[in-house]
Amino acid sequence: MDQSQQIAKAVEILREGGLVAFPTETVYGLGADANNPEALRRLYSLKGRPLDHPSIVHVTGTEALESWCRDIPDAAILLATLFWPGPLTLVLKKRKGVPDELTGGQDTVAIRVPSHPVALKLLSAFGSGVAAPSANRFGHISPTSATDVRGEFGDEVMVLDGGPCQVGIESTIIDLSAGRPRVLRPGMILEESINVALSEVGLAPKGETDSPRVPGSLPSHYAPHKPVELVESSSLQDAVSGLLNKGKTPGVLAYSTSSAGYGAGPVSIQMSQSPAHYAFSLYRSLRELDGNEKVDFILIEEPPAKPEWVGIRDRVTRAAGQRLDTSVTEVGNGT
Ligand code: TXA
Ligand code: MG
Repeated sequence: MDQSQQIAKAVEILREGGLVAFPTETVYGLGADANNPEALRRLYSLKGRPLDHPSIVHVTGTEALESWCRDIPDAAILLATLFWPGPLTLVLKKRKGVPDELTGGQDTVAIRVPSHPVALKLLSAFGSGVAAPSANRFGHISPTSATDVRGEFGDEVMVLDGGPCQVGIESTIIDLSAGRPRVLRPGMILEESINVALSEVGLAPKGETDSPRVPGSLPSHYAPHKPVELVESSSLQDAVSGLLNKGKTPGVLAYSTSSAGYGAGPVSIQMSQSPAHYAFSLYRSLRELDGNEKVDFILIEEPPAKPEWVGIRDRVTRAAGQRLDTSVTEVGNGT
């Protein structure tokens, strides 16, 4: 089947209430007709995700805002115009008739226009909104390739292959549904850029930004199966030696080049010092270490505390979820 036949097939599946995994520029999504409650329940059940967790509706353009949202503030139009298609999700008041299954029963809806050409082709051929959480089992690492998705769901869903996701971590989420706009989930569209765009309104100050309504804010979200610890650069060598002394093999996600060599023993992946490249390969590298039989424990060198790294720091912190202190014992992924 060529690509247009595959998209036609995917549209047919969506119309029948089935599920289709598709690429976006951030991560692969597991798609269902956002207007079909039964399809949404099927989606949540396959993902193993609780029904009260809302999903993002993916649409083709700003004109679709009216179909899903009401009381749309100017700030939302501005951000949509500037950043769509792209890795930005807006949370707005939902329009009457938008299924509770999409919004987790909340009065708001999350919406975005992805920039991946395959996603855009699928959405325009489907002609309506596609609900899509990341195409992974609940609590696991988001997939950034078609192979990753198949690793999660096998042959249970059709996967449109669009190559590796260029951004590599999930979209930035901004809540514009009430009060001042707030960042609910940081991503590669930086808070600074949003602030510049919203110069008149401005974002809510820090501290007001952590919403319990985002399941991604569970500490153990985005977690590998193996135990993970986030370690400062200066402590990395000690952490590696400590594990080796206990007969454990560390898998190291190193960021600074000075820490690239730890001698024999650990499995090490050298990450880029450019945030965009780091984000691009983060989930793939975590999956690689998680899947490497030799590795007992994943150590992530803490990325720089700089604005361009906020989204990445958020994901690696969540991947770590729990810290290694005294002993190396079983640490699950929580969800
Ligand atoms: O980049 C992305 O956003 C990817 C691709 C596939 O688009 N999608 C994604 O979906 O990461 P998911 O479901 O894994 O994460 C969406 C996040 C969840 O944390 C969810 O709680 C939050 O968006 N969310 C969805 N609707 C919301 C709402 N109405 N209010 C607050 N948060 C919401
Ligand atoms: Mg997810």
